[in-house]
Amino acid sequence: MTCVLYPGSFDPIHNGHVEMVETAASLFDHVVVGTLMNPSKGGGLFSLEERMSLLDECFEHLPNVRTTMFDGLVVTLAQEERADFIIKGLRAVSDFESELQMAQTNLAISGVHTLFLPTASRRSFLASGLIREVARLGGNVEDMVPEPVYRRLKEKLPS
Ligand code: PNS
Repeated sequence: MTCVLYPGSFDPIHNGHVEMVETAASLFDHVVVGTLMNPSKGGGLFSLEERMSLLDECFEHLPNVRTTMFDGLVVTLAQEERADFIIKGLRAVSDFESELQMAQTNLAISGVHTLFLPTASRRSFLASGLIREVARLGGNVEDMVPEPVYRRLKEKLPS
């Protein structure tokens, strides 16, 4: 039984994240999606509880996916969850340098390896920060996020 951990801010979860989790759920026995507040990314829109509730709604069709929230090190959560690997999505070469550095650091401090999965090219431009910005300024993000997220964005940011 292979369990993988997919960590992220998910503020909010978008269709690229959903694709990653669906792919992981088809490749591995168990997927844990862990969300946290990333202090290096200012301007959070959704609380951790709201993000969790949206993650739960988005993955209720996948019985081998579980969601959780955490603070502290991602490798601590990986060990607590007995995850065999951390998984990360790569959208473009620009993601690679920082993700490689994080993967190497996480390996050095814990022995937990990171596996990278490529994002489909039609979703490679998606980024939560840009989605928040477009939605805040009244742009249409309907095709970029799952329906429950779109609904919550409209409630939070009425145009
Ligand atoms: O969705 P994000 O904000 O790009 O996800 C970043 C995340 C959560 C993967 C990263 O910030 C992280 O791992 N944070 C937990 C703290 C930690 O373990 N730091 C050391 C990383 S080498």
